[in-house]
Amino acid sequence: MTDLREALDRLLEPVPPKRLAESVQRLIADYRSGRPADEPLIRNMVDATAYAAYRMPATHAAVEAVLAQLGERVDPRSILDVGGGSGAATWAALERFPGIQEMTVLDQVPEALKLGQRMLPRATWQEWHLGEPLSTVDMVLVSYVLGELTEDAQRDLVEAAGAAAEQAVVIVEPGTPLGYRRILEARDRLIAGGWTVAAPCPHQQACGMTGKDWCHFTARINRSALHRRLKSAELGYEDEKFSYVAVTKDVAATKDVAVTNEQGRVVRHPAFRKGLVTLQVCNPDTTVGPTLVSKREGPRYKQARDAQWGDEWPQPSE
Ligand SMILES: C[S@@+](CC[C@H](N)C(=O)[O-])C[C@H]1O[C@@H](n2cnc3c(N)ncnc32)[C@H](O)[C@@H]1O
Repeated sequence: MTDLREALDRLLEPVPPKRLAESVQRLIADYRSGRPADEPLIRNMVDATAYAAYRMPATHAAVEAVLAQLGERVDPRSILDVGGGSGAATWAALERFPGIQEMTVLDQVPEALKLGQRMLPRATWQEWHLGEPLSTVDMVLVSYVLGELTEDAQRDLVEAAGAAAEQAVVIVEPGTPLGYRRILEARDRLIAGGWTVAAPCPHQQACGMTGKDWCHFTARINRSALHRRLKSAELGYEDEKFSYVAVTKDVAATKDVAVTNEQGRVVRHPAFRKGLVTLQVCNPDTTVGPTLVSKREGPRYKQARDAQWGDEWPQPSE
């Protein structure tokens, strides 16, 4: 992340902050509207720079948190970052999997690609429009893209990603009820295509979250001074909420095996009361509910005290 921060700082230096701030405000409004875009939201170099300045640290942090949950399940040498913009997901993948040798970022906006290339010249930056073929790679990343597409286009892209990947597909969306819905659709489609859910779900069956709840997680990002100024924000940090699905081709799990992970997943911030930790857990049997761990349980209590939203529960033994 330090490297990305430094690369971003160098990039932003020559751009007048006032122009950046105007672009940021427009992009925030466009993204918040939640409508699929008829035309690219990023229209020029200032927009691309504004997006990089105010969103890249957050989307990077979300993808970083997601890839951490894949653990040792994959070891990609080649990746495609589809709708990759200026490459936030590629940065996260490179940090997590230093064995990556070939990385290609595909996007419809040449300015975003140009900007990304300035920060990470060793990647291949290629103009690409939805519907054009994807080459075969180990891992395909689709980070914060589905929300810009119609439902049909989302379906086509998820299928294309599933067909292009040999080890893993990772899809990340904003952690909103709508983002979660899109993730559920993508998850169904990937499972139907023979993929195994590696995270966040410990099973392949229908999501056990009911009512108004939706599955999402959070990543904390420290804001730089410029970041704070661009967003007119006071706090020195922000919490990026995201929903995701990561699928792999595990040998151990096949389509017929419903439970893909013996560990559950913590799906809320743990609650602490004196001598008692309450974890909201999505369990391998598809239930989602509270797990109470009391101080009397010794090592298990210690584990529960350290558990964080998004972690597996119980923590897998080393
Ligand atoms: C919200 S940005 C996400 C960028 C990057 N993946 C990230 O996580 O920061 C969505 C990206 O998807 C790209 N995109 C949207 N629709 C597309 C399409 N039809 N063809 C190609 N790229 C598209 C946009 O140009 C934009 O760069």
